[in-house]
Parts: sequence; C-alpha cells; structure tokens
Amino acid sequence: PKIYVITPTYARLVQKAELTRLSLTFLHVPQLHWIVVEDAPQPTPLVTDFLAASGLTYTHLHKLTPKDRKLQEGDPSWLKPRGAEQRNEGLRWLREMGAAAAEGKEAAALEEAVVYFADDDNTYSLQLFEEMRYTYRVSVWPVGLVGGMKFERPVVEDGKVVRFHTGWRPNRPFPMDMAGFAVSLRLVMTNPEARFDGDAQMGFLESSFLQHLVTMDDLEPKADLCSKVLVWHTRTEKPKMKREDALQKQGLGSDPDVER
Ligand code: UGA
Ligand code: MN
Repeated sequence: PKIYVITPTYARLVQKAELTRLSLTFLHVPQLHWIVVEDAPQPTPLVTDFLAASGLTYTHLHKLTPKDRKLQEGDPSWLKPRGAEQRNEGLRWLREMGAAAAEGKEAAALEEAVVYFADDDNTYSLQLFEEMRYTYRVSVWPVGLVGGMKFERPVVEDGKVVRFHTGWRPNRPFPMDMAGFAVSLRLVMTNPEARFDGDAQMGFLESSFLQHLVTMDDLEPKADLCSKVLVWHTRTEKPKMKREDALQKQGLGSDPDVER
C-alpha cells in the first residue's frame, strides 16, 4: 500500500535544512507520496525548486493560515494550533484525488492507502513507515521526547489500546501527538467531515480530527504493541542571528540573493 505523507511547512531560517533532512528519510521509503503544504499565500520558489530536485514523488500545495489564527511574535507556542489549515488542505487534495480515482481502476489501490501527518521538524525511523503501511482504520504507536516525557504511548492490554501513558490530561479523547498515528485513506474518504479544528484548545488538535473517525477500541497498536519508539518529537533550536543583525546594520549582512 501507498503512504501519503502530509507535511505543513513555513518559511523560517531552518526551513530548507528541515526539508532536506526529511526528504533524505523519505527517499528510503518505498511507495511514499509526499504532500507538502506551505503556510504561504503562494508556493515559494525555495520549496518549488527544492521539491523538483528532491527525487521524491510529491504534490506541492499551499494554504495561508489566517492572521487571527496564527501565532504572533512573542506568543507562547501553545496558544494556537499550528499546521491545522495546511493538514486540512492536504486532506482536501486527497479526497478530490480519491473521488476522481474512484471512477478509474486505481480505486482498488487507494482502498488500502494510508495517510500520515509528518511535521517538518520531527525525526522518523524507516521502520515506522513499515509499521503504518498496513492500517485498516487508525494505527498508533509511541512518540519519543514529547509532552515533557521520555515518550508518550498508548498502553496495550490483550492486543488492545486500553489507555494512554501521558503526563497531561490523560482524559482527552485521544491524548496523542500528531506523529503517533496514521489513518487509512478509505476512512478519510468515507468521513468527509473529519478535519483539524484550527480553534481547538491546546492539546486537542489531534482529538478534533480523530473523534470523527474512531473510538479507542478501534485503534490498531503497532511497533510491537507500542513497546518501541520509532519517531521523536524533536524541535529545532531557533538560530541566533546576533552577528548577522550587527553586520546588517553596517550594510554587510549575508547576501540576500543566496538561497539558503
Ligand atoms: C506539536 C505537535 O507535534 C504538532 O503536530 C501540532 O500541530 C502542534 O504541537 C500544535 O499544537 O499545533 P510543535 O513542535 O509545537 O508541535 O509544532 P511545530 O513543529 O512548530 O509545527 C507543526 C507543523 O506546522 C510543522 O510542520 C510546521 O512547519 C508547521 N507550521 C508551524 C506551519 O505550517 N505554520 C506555522 O506558522 C507554524
Ligand atoms: Mn514540531
């Protein structure tokens, strides 16, 4: 089965580095289709050229987060959800593509396909993709370095998810990070109302989507019954530009024509 990976991304100093790292992982994954959704009013030349040279099979979309929904400079990072509008745009494309294919013979292959939401700054093992590849409804696994913990994970008893190991509000409907689940394309297609709520309270973004699709009882535990960490919620440090700023004041800043 094919894996459709939806990645929201936005312009910042580390963007090209993040996309480079991510693409090098994906190049090792068979049957992966990368859906990159820029948080921008238009596709940018940087991402356009990057994808063209990446060697990956991809779809390049864009969807600007409305200003009132976007974090402002100085806001704490938990104030508003990030990447919601972009993931919804990726879902819109998938549903449109799926509906068009339903009339042709590619439909059978799409029945088995899986959708994964991969943020541009996390770290993904190759094994993760083989774990999620066979997903009937929603598959789940642990995520490392998230929620102020070594890892969060679904707790499995007799092959079923019975609760979640998390440090915070365990009674959320699905107390899981975005990196901790994949969904069958069939389920996405048959539940057109399922989307990410850009107004969700902190920690409820994942639940806002999954609630439309499954109950805890339906979750398919992967990664040896959720006993292995195969993905890490790493976050990249914001580079300091102290010297750059000082030089810029003297008209000696780094050449803006160099793509970086
Ligand atoms: C955590 C979760 O891992 C995210 O999946 C979730 O979207 C986020 O919290 C949230 O609560 O909204 P965190 O590391 O804090 O993630 O978020 P980021 O990695 O900064 O952003 C998630 C994704 O959205 C990234 O792929 C990023 O490139 C993208 N993003 C971020 C945008 O498209 N636009 C923005 O303005 C910011
Ligand atoms: Mn992140």
